[in-house]
Amino acid sequence: MKIVKKIAVILLLVLLAMQFYRPVKNLSQGNHSVTFITETNPSVRVREILENACYDCHSNNTRYPWYNTIAPVSFWLSNHIDDAKEELNFSIWGDYSTQKKSHKLEEVIELIENDEMPLKPYTWMHSEAKLTTEEKQAVIAWAKRSRTLYQLNQQPR
Ligand code: HEC
Repeated sequence: MKIVKKIAVILLLVLLAMQFYRPVKNLSQGNHSVTFITETNPSVRVREILENACYDCHSNNTRYPWYNTIAPVSFWLSNHIDDAKEELNFSIWGDYSTQKKSHKLEEVIELIENDEMPLKPYTWMHSEAKLTTEEKQAVIAWAKRSRTLYQLNQQPR
Protein backbone atom coordinates (compact mmCIF):
# COMPACT_ATOMS: atom_id res chain seq x y z
CA MET A 1 0.00 0.00 0.00
CA LYS A 2 2.81 2.33 0.93
CA ILE A 3 4.52 1.92 -2.46
CA VAL A 4 1.24 2.50 -4.31
CA LYS A 5 0.77 5.72 -2.42
CA LYS A 6 4.30 6.81 -3.26
CA ILE A 7 3.78 6.11 -6.95
CA ALA A 8 0.51 8.03 -6.88
CA VAL A 9 2.21 11.05 -5.35
CA ILE A 10 5.03 10.93 -7.90
CA LEU A 11 2.54 10.67 -10.79
CA LEU A 12 0.61 13.61 -9.42
CA LEU A 13 3.79 15.68 -9.18
CA VAL A 14 4.77 14.78 -12.75
CA LEU A 15 1.32 15.75 -13.95
CA LEU A 16 1.54 19.04 -12.07
CA ALA A 17 5.01 19.78 -13.44
CA MET A 18 3.75 19.09 -16.98
CA GLN A 19 1.29 21.96 -16.64
CA PHE A 20 4.20 24.41 -16.82
CA TYR A 21 5.11 23.27 -20.32
CA ARG A 22 2.83 24.47 -23.06
CA PRO A 23 3.31 23.62 -26.73
CA VAL A 24 3.46 26.67 -29.02
CA LYS A 25 -0.05 27.52 -30.16
CA ASN A 26 -1.14 27.44 -33.77
CA LEU A 27 -2.52 30.97 -34.12
CA SER A 28 -2.63 33.42 -37.02
CA GLN A 29 -4.03 36.90 -37.23
CA GLY A 30 -6.21 38.12 -40.07
CA ASN A 31 -7.12 36.36 -43.27
CA HIS A 32 -4.58 33.53 -43.26
CA SER A 33 -6.26 31.50 -46.02
CA VAL A 34 -6.83 34.30 -48.55
CA THR A 35 -5.05 32.54 -51.45
CA PHE A 36 -7.01 29.35 -50.90
CA ILE A 37 -10.32 31.20 -50.78
CA THR A 38 -9.71 33.43 -53.79
CA GLU A 39 -8.43 30.57 -55.93
CA THR A 40 -11.00 27.90 -55.12
CA ASN A 41 -13.86 30.36 -54.64
CA PRO A 42 -16.12 28.32 -52.30
CA SER A 43 -19.68 29.52 -51.67
CA VAL A 44 -20.30 31.17 -48.28
CA ARG A 45 -21.88 27.88 -47.16
CA VAL A 46 -18.91 25.71 -48.16
CA ARG A 47 -16.50 28.21 -46.69
CA GLU A 48 -18.32 28.03 -43.37
CA ILE A 49 -18.24 24.23 -43.41
CA LEU A 50 -14.50 24.20 -44.06
CA GLU A 51 -13.88 26.79 -41.34
CA ASN A 52 -15.99 24.91 -38.81
CA ALA A 53 -14.92 21.38 -39.62
CA CYS A 54 -11.40 21.52 -41.06
CA TYR A 55 -9.52 24.72 -40.22
CA ASP A 56 -8.72 23.79 -36.61
CA CYS A 57 -6.35 21.12 -37.93
CA HIS A 58 -5.67 22.11 -41.54
CA SER A 59 -4.83 25.81 -41.26
CA ASN A 60 -2.49 28.12 -39.38
CA ASN A 61 -5.25 29.11 -36.99
CA THR A 62 -6.83 26.83 -34.39
CA ARG A 63 -9.75 27.80 -32.15
CA TYR A 64 -8.58 26.10 -29.00
CA PRO A 65 -11.02 24.41 -26.63
CA TRP A 66 -10.71 25.08 -22.86
CA TYR A 67 -9.27 21.60 -22.25
CA ASN A 68 -6.23 22.56 -24.29
CA THR A 69 -5.01 24.32 -21.16
CA ILE A 70 -4.45 20.90 -19.59
CA ALA A 71 -1.33 18.83 -20.22
CA PRO A 72 -1.03 16.19 -21.67
CA VAL A 73 -4.15 17.07 -23.76
CA SER A 74 -2.35 20.18 -25.06
CA PHE A 75 0.52 18.02 -26.35
CA TRP A 76 -1.84 15.53 -27.94
CA LEU A 77 -3.77 18.27 -29.79
CA SER A 78 -0.55 19.99 -30.85
CA ASN A 79 0.77 16.75 -32.39
CA HIS A 80 -2.47 16.17 -34.25
CA ILE A 81 -2.44 19.68 -35.69
CA ASP A 82 1.19 19.29 -36.81
CA ASP A 83 0.41 15.98 -38.53
CA ALA A 84 -2.67 17.40 -40.22
CA LYS A 85 -0.89 20.54 -41.45
CA GLU A 86 1.94 18.45 -42.81
CA GLU A 87 -0.56 16.73 -45.11
CA LEU A 88 -2.81 19.66 -45.90
CA ASN A 89 -2.62 23.30 -44.85
CA PHE A 90 -5.11 25.72 -46.38
CA SER A 91 -3.05 28.66 -45.09
CA ILE A 92 -0.09 27.79 -47.36
CA TRP A 93 -2.18 26.91 -50.42
CA GLY A 94 -0.22 29.41 -52.49
CA ASP A 95 2.98 27.38 -51.96
CA TYR A 96 1.47 24.24 -53.53
CA SER A 97 1.93 23.46 -57.23
CA THR A 98 -1.18 23.24 -59.41
CA GLN A 99 -0.74 19.47 -59.49
CA LYS A 100 -0.51 19.27 -55.71
CA LYS A 101 -3.62 21.44 -55.28
CA SER A 102 -5.55 19.18 -57.63
CA HIS A 103 -4.31 16.10 -55.78
CA LYS A 104 -5.20 17.52 -52.35
CA LEU A 105 -8.72 18.30 -53.59
CA GLU A 106 -8.98 14.72 -54.83
CA GLU A 107 -8.05 13.54 -51.32
CA VAL A 108 -10.64 15.89 -49.81
CA ILE A 109 -13.35 14.34 -52.01
CA GLU A 110 -12.24 10.81 -51.15
CA LEU A 111 -11.94 11.33 -47.40
CA ILE A 112 -15.28 13.11 -47.12
CA GLU A 113 -17.02 10.46 -49.22
CA ASN A 114 -15.57 7.78 -46.92
CA ASP A 115 -16.46 9.70 -43.74
CA GLU A 116 -12.81 9.78 -42.69
CA MET A 117 -12.66 13.56 -42.23
CA PRO A 118 -13.15 15.38 -39.97
CA LEU A 119 -11.54 12.88 -37.60
CA LYS A 120 -14.04 11.05 -35.40
CA PRO A 121 -12.68 12.16 -31.98
CA TYR A 122 -12.95 15.75 -33.20
CA THR A 123 -16.65 15.41 -34.08
CA TRP A 124 -17.36 13.95 -30.64
CA MET A 125 -16.18 17.21 -29.11
CA HIS A 126 -17.43 19.51 -31.93
CA SER A 127 -20.90 18.44 -32.98
CA GLU A 128 -21.08 21.32 -35.51
CA ALA A 129 -18.25 19.66 -37.44
CA LYS A 130 -20.28 16.51 -38.04
CA LEU A 131 -21.26 16.91 -41.68
CA THR A 132 -24.78 16.18 -42.90
CA THR A 133 -25.26 14.44 -46.25
CA GLU A 134 -26.14 17.81 -47.79
CA GLU A 135 -23.02 19.46 -46.41
CA LYS A 136 -20.85 16.64 -47.70
CA GLN A 137 -22.42 16.97 -51.14
CA ALA A 138 -21.81 20.72 -51.17
CA VAL A 139 -18.13 20.32 -50.26
CA ILE A 140 -17.62 17.49 -52.75
CA ALA A 141 -19.26 19.47 -55.57
CA TRP A 142 -17.06 22.48 -54.81
CA ALA A 143 -13.90 20.33 -54.61
CA LYS A 144 -14.71 18.57 -57.90
CA ARG A 145 -15.32 21.84 -59.71
CA SER A 146 -12.13 23.43 -58.35
CA ARG A 147 -10.16 20.33 -59.21
CA THR A 148 -11.38 20.29 -62.81
CA LEU A 149 -10.36 23.91 -63.20
CA TYR A 150 -6.90 23.20 -61.78
CA GLN A 151 -6.60 20.29 -64.19
CA LEU A 152 -7.40 22.66 -67.03
CA ASN A 153 -4.63 24.72 -65.44
CA GLN A 154 -6.90 27.64 -64.80
CA GLN A 155 -7.76 29.41 -61.61
CA PRO A 156 -11.23 28.30 -60.48
CA ARG A 157 -13.64 31.21 -60.68
C1 HEC B 1 -8.89 16.95 -35.47
C2 HEC B 1 -8.07 17.31 -36.57
C3 HEC B 1 -8.58 17.21 -37.98
C4 HEC B 1 -9.73 17.76 -38.51
C5 HEC B 1 -10.77 18.58 -37.80
C6 HEC B 1 -9.70 17.45 -39.92
N1 HEC B 1 -8.58 16.73 -40.22
FE1 HEC B 1 -7.97 16.11 -42.05
N2 HEC B 1 -6.34 15.20 -41.24
C7 HEC B 1 -6.00 15.21 -39.90
C8 HEC B 1 -4.79 14.45 -39.70
C9 HEC B 1 -4.09 14.23 -38.35
C10 HEC B 1 -4.38 14.00 -40.97
C11 HEC B 1 -3.15 13.21 -41.34
C12 HEC B 1 -3.10 11.86 -40.83
C13 HEC B 1 -4.24 11.01 -41.27
O1 HEC B 1 -4.41 10.83 -42.50
O2 HEC B 1 -4.96 10.51 -40.42
C14 HEC B 1 -5.38 14.48 -41.92
C15 HEC B 1 -5.36 14.24 -43.27
C16 HEC B 1 -6.23 14.82 -44.18
C17 HEC B 1 -6.13 14.68 -45.62
C18 HEC B 1 -5.10 13.84 -46.34
C19 HEC B 1 -4.15 14.67 -47.14
C20 HEC B 1 -3.26 13.75 -47.96
O3 HEC B 1 -2.74 14.24 -48.94
O4 HEC B 1 -3.12 12.57 -47.63
C21 HEC B 1 -7.16 15.38 -46.17
C22 HEC B 1 -7.49 15.57 -47.65
C23 HEC B 1 -7.93 15.94 -45.07
N3 HEC B 1 -7.34 15.58 -43.89
C24 HEC B 1 -9.06 16.70 -45.24
C25 HEC B 1 -9.83 17.20 -44.20
C26 HEC B 1 -11.06 17.93 -44.40
C27 HEC B 1 -11.66 18.29 -45.74
C28 HEC B 1 -11.52 18.24 -43.16
C29 HEC B 1 -12.81 18.95 -42.83
C30 HEC B 1 -14.03 18.43 -43.39
C31 HEC B 1 -10.57 17.70 -42.19
N4 HEC B 1 -9.57 17.07 -42.86
C32 HEC B 1 -10.67 17.85 -40.82
C33 HEC B 1 -6.68 15.86 -38.90
C34 HEC B 1 -7.88 16.55 -39.06
